[in-house]
Amino acid sequence: MTSLSCYSKLSVSLLISVWVSSLIFAASASNFYPDFDITWGDGRAQILNNGELLTLSLDKTSGSGFQSKNQYLFGKIDMQIKLVPGNSAGTVTAYYVIASEGSAWDEIDFEFLGNLSGDPYIVHTNVFSQGKGDREQQFYLWFDPTADFHTYSILWNPQRIIFSVDGTPIREFKNLESKGVPFLKNQPMRLQSSLWNADDWATRGGLVKTDWSQAPFTASYRNFNADTNSNNGWLWEELDTTGQDRLKWVQKNYMIYNYCSDSKRFPQGVPPECAAQ
Ligand SMILES: *[C@@H]1O[C@H](CO)[C@@H](O)[C@H](O)[C@H]1NC(C)=O
Repeated sequence: MTSLSCYSKLSVSLLISVWVSSLIFAASASNFYPDFDITWGDGRAQILNNGELLTLSLDKTSGSGFQSKNQYLFGKIDMQIKLVPGNSAGTVTAYYVIASEGSAWDEIDFEFLGNLSGDPYIVHTNVFSQGKGDREQQFYLWFDPTADFHTYSILWNPQRIIFSVDGTPIREFKNLESKGVPFLKNQPMRLQSSLWNADDWATRGGLVKTDWSQAPFTASYRNFNADTNSNNGWLWEELDTTGQDRLKWVQKNYMIYNYCSDSKRFPQGVPPECAAQ
């Protein structure tokens, strides 16, 4: 009797510890080693902390970059990024999925344009379908993206693309093939990211140059997740009313450029997708 209850206590505690450790494992399962390759930068990109952290750096000689080993055809991709702190003027951190190997280039693009200390980053977004881009929207953020990690997400399913920041949608690009707008749906895409110098245009249109005395500049990445299991809901995901309200809130308060409102740039009329964005 005693030995039996002792045994069952042991097995229960064993079960609990297996369960707890599998929870811990699930929470920290993201590891850059199996999923990513450093692609350039001659040692300036590094995978650290047993694969949990990836850093990119930029100095006067070079920037750096990485890409996913896998390619994705639809999915929900999340990454936590902490952008270059301090005086990051002139630097650009780009984070995007791209299909550039086939004949027509597809890309879903976040670019973070640095600034002087205390002045706001610009989040620049674009969507290229079948080689055509020119769909820029730019935003400020409602927090300091250099103080901590924040989650930047790309939801890509056959009906739409949604860019989100910490779960708040900032942009939606709908599938409007019915209106003759090509949609990204034929080519799998690779996730890429890089940190480079773009002081000829990035900060206040190129007026503020990179201060190399602050180099090296560093951006950090963690908790990558690519949900490509089509049973998980993202395949049909759309913005519910809360999501639509959040999107409107961002567009009203934080959007600083929208190609769809730039009638000077499109004297013949803004592109057809603008009617439904
Ligand atoms: C940098 O700060 C200035 C002044 O607040 C602002 O006009 C600009 O949009 C900011 N961002 C960039 C990337 O230039």
